[in-house]
Amino acid sequence: MRYTLVAVGVTLLAHSAYAIFPTPLKFSKDGTFQISIFEDLHFGENAWESWGPAQDTKSVAVLNSVLDAESRPNLVVLNGDLITGENTFLENSTAYIDRIVAPLVARGLPWASTYGNHDSQFNLSSTALLARENRYRNSLTRSMVPGREAGVTNYYLPVYESGIRWPWSAPKLLLWFFDSRGGGYFQERDGDGNEVPRPNWVDESVVRWFRRTNNALTARWRRTIPSLVFVHIPTNASRAAQTEDGIGQYTEPGINDDYALAQQGEGWCEDGTNNNEKCPYGGQDTAFMEALVEIPGILGVFSGHDHGDTWCYKWDTQIPGMSIKGNGVNLCFGQHSGYGGYGNWIRGARQVLVSEDALKRGELDTWIRLEDGAVVGTVELNATYGEDLYPATPNDKTYL
Ligand SMILES: *[C@@H]1O[C@H](CO)[C@@H](O)[C@H](O)[C@H]1NC(C)=O
Ligand SMILES: *[C@@H]1O[C@H](CO)[C@@H](O)[C@H](O)[C@H]1NC(C)=O
Ligand SMILES: *[C@@H]1O[C@H](CO)[C@@H](O)[C@H](O)[C@H]1NC(C)=O
Ligand SMILES: *[C@@H]1O[C@H](CO)[C@@H](O)[C@H](O)[C@H]1NC(C)=O
Repeated sequence: MRYTLVAVGVTLLAHSAYAIFPTPLKFSKDGTFQISIFEDLHFGENAWESWGPAQDTKSVAVLNSVLDAESRPNLVVLNGDLITGENTFLENSTAYIDRIVAPLVARGLPWASTYGNHDSQFNLSSTALLARENRYRNSLTRSMVPGREAGVTNYYLPVYESGIRWPWSAPKLLLWFFDSRGGGYFQERDGDGNEVPRPNWVDESVVRWFRRTNNALTARWRRTIPSLVFVHIPTNASRAAQTEDGIGQYTEPGINDDYALAQQGEGWCEDGTNNNEKCPYGGQDTAFMEALVEIPGILGVFSGHDHGDTWCYKWDTQIPGMSIKGNGVNLCFGQHSGYGGYGNWIRGARQVLVSEDALKRGELDTWIRLEDGAVVGTVELNATYGEDLYPATPNDKTYL
């Protein structure tokens, strides 16, 4: 009896220690850290028709084939629009998480999510989505900024050198995750009975937290720590890059079919009211864009949302018409990973390889692994990215 109690006590202690100090992310022994980014999986469409569940089966196959082809990613990022919340039922909206993460759980892979505009809807609570994810110990998704306006998936994860046992040393890399919100508020209606739209940009309270937390980390470790940013909806800088500077098929290889692309602040007026007809863009992502170029060490910003765009662009110039000047940060899309959501571009997932060596030069390697096993768009995001010539990416389609 006494031994049983001791055993239970030790188990409970181990569990709470795990909750407080989860296994830290670490570079592999060969000095690399690979991230596999799945975006726009859009599970849960039309459960009452055969094509909805059939899409989800195909999306699971995409996850499996990409993860089989990539030897061993250190982290999977689910970069928004995991579920199409407009189509799901109040009773079981968050249950789709179990299907999405099954291939990750089976491989023992940790993952971290950002939520997209379809992940917060009248029948889908993004807070409940986080709770569902956090039932799995492999889920590293967190919420570090309180308040209804902040959204949910605003947090960072440190990555340490290989071999570290306890995180007492400086992280080698920081991964920042942001909630660009959008969609609608869970179970809320306005006076006229309409669902309440949710602003679609990174809230200023979150930008203040970003700057404050980064300052604290920089002061604590007395150095700039290289970092990557994940956010579902891209900023106006990506849009301006596309429409004002231009995306070259050999210099920024990738599909460029969503033209002009949808950005944060789309459909909102400068005064903060929602009006899709009158206000194409309200400029509310300015504070976030300023932070992206002013905080030192940010090497790349990875977005989804625009299923038909898969390129990376180095924001190192004054883009005509833009008041904010880039500092060399790479703005990248991934690849539409799910069979849900609009568009038939071949499914896949962007891979990002960070090596301790290349990090010293501020460089990243990236490519897209397609569902058929092929690799496209392999580029080196180094100092001359944007001038170097690469093969153009084929624009293939796949169907259900
Ligand atoms: C929300 O879920 C309820 C209960 O399943 C369903 O009757 C309703 O149609 C859904 N509403 C929306 C807007 O999806
Ligand atoms: C949610 O409920 C609907 C209606 O009962 C069902 O068709 C669907 O398969 C359920 N989804 C999940 C993930 O359990
Ligand atoms: C957004 O981009 C457009 C060009 O597409 C530019 O004219 C505008 O000034 C930009 N807005 C901000 C806030 O930088
Ligand atoms: C960047 O990478 C490309 C492709 O590997 C290479 O051709 C180019 O020389 C590199 N630039 C620098 C500055 O290392």
